[in-house]
Amino acid sequence: MSVDSIGRVQSPRIIRIGGGIALEVAEVLSQLGLSRPLIVTDKNLMTLGHVATVTDVLDSAGLSWRVFDQVVEDPTDRCVDDGLAVLRSGDFDCIIGLGGGSPMDAAKAISFMSVNPGHVRDYKAPRQIDRCGPPVILIPTTGGTGSELTRWCVITDTAQPEKYNLSGLACVATAALIDWTFTTTKPLRITADTAVDSMTHAIEAYVSRKAFAYTDAFALAAMSAIARHVRTACKQPDNADARAALMLAASQAGMAFSNASVALVHGMSRPIGAHFHVAHGLSNAMLLPAVTEFSIGSSQARYATCARVMGWADDNDTDAFACDSLVQQLKTLNADLKVPRVGELGHKATQEMFTLMAAQALASGSPQNNPRIPTENEIVQLYGQVW
Ligand SMILES: NC(=O)c1ccc[n+]([C@@H]2O[C@H](COP(=O)([O-])OP(=O)(O)OC[C@H]3O[C@@H](n4cnc5c(N)ncnc54)[C@H](O)[C@@H]3O)[C@@H](O)[C@H]2O)c1
Ligand SMILES: [Fe+2]
Repeated sequence: MSVDSIGRVQSPRIIRIGGGIALEVAEVLSQLGLSRPLIVTDKNLMTLGHVATVTDVLDSAGLSWRVFDQVVEDPTDRCVDDGLAVLRSGDFDCIIGLGGGSPMDAAKAISFMSVNPGHVRDYKAPRQIDRCGPPVILIPTTGGTGSELTRWCVITDTAQPEKYNLSGLACVATAALIDWTFTTTKPLRITADTAVDSMTHAIEAYVSRKAFAYTDAFALAAMSAIARHVRTACKQPDNADARAALMLAASQAGMAFSNASVALVHGMSRPIGAHFHVAHGLSNAMLLPAVTEFSIGSSQARYATCARVMGWADDNDTDAFACDSLVQQLKTLNADLKVPRVGELGHKATQEMFTLMAAQALASGSPQNNPRIPTENEIVQLYGQVW
């Protein structure tokens, strides 16, 4: 691909990165002329003390705040409505989303739904939501989704099992404070799943039909770091180098896929999350080797580059060898991270369910960015393969 490739990027106005940087939250609010935040988070982060880390800083700066901690994993439209009611009940001038992708996405949706009429599902992508609500300041604690830097938001519908993408300027945070120190409390399963989520973002952004030179740089840097540090972070939860590298990589992968898009893995992953409540990163991991094997022949040189930057092939190896190595190493990584098959979690799916999920995957638009664009029937077969 030429470095002259055309691309369009949306990103936050302020990005601060590093261990302890979340302690600058009051300073960032002041820079933006803000002083009355609603903090959107989940109960677990309250219990872990991560919310107090932020509210202590706000207290020291003499700022008033309130917490909405009712965000559930894979945040629902109801959760957005509840948060919106809290926002409207007070005199807030901004929203701080503190947590993994779930609280950060809920924060985005609460913000834009406060100025856009109707139900959140009315704004499903490909519609672009450009009318922005109150400024959103995001502080990630999982280092997986990269939502702090993306123009995407994912909400789960309660009327029917569906997870949909929302997109546009209104889904871009005003500021992101990317502080890896929160991530040392992640248990092994969440560490593994969120790392594979960001690895999937990086690989899919790099092989996406919408990739361009700017996103390539972020994607390659991210996948290289994730491949090198994921096992260490799982074995040594307090390893600062590994945690810092994975947090940075998650944000870089977010920047890459936000602007280059994800592809077939994410397209197929969302219906698994919506129907069976499998954690987002885990369902990506279940799909990644099989979908890579399915797609690899359509973008051999790019997949070979992925293998090389991840240290799974050498410059001297042929692209064919590097591609084989990529698939093998992704399978080995899944085995090391104890990623089960979907069926091993006890989830049963009929052929009819596979067909519904394949239609939902295609409707999301993500599979159309894949190097090999699948038919509905091929997606059904891939679901069968990973189940
Ligand atoms: N907006 C985007 O660009 C984007 C991209 C990818 C995924 N997503 C969405 O993000 C959601 C998944 O987010 P996620 O994977 O970050 O998980 P999550 O936010 O759902 O959190 C998973 C669990 O991890 C816990 N947790 C969070 N931080 C922790 C910490 N530091 N220590 C211990 N536990 C911690 C949470 O309390 C929760 O129980 C899904 O809905 C997914 O579809 C959004
Ligand atoms: Fe993801």
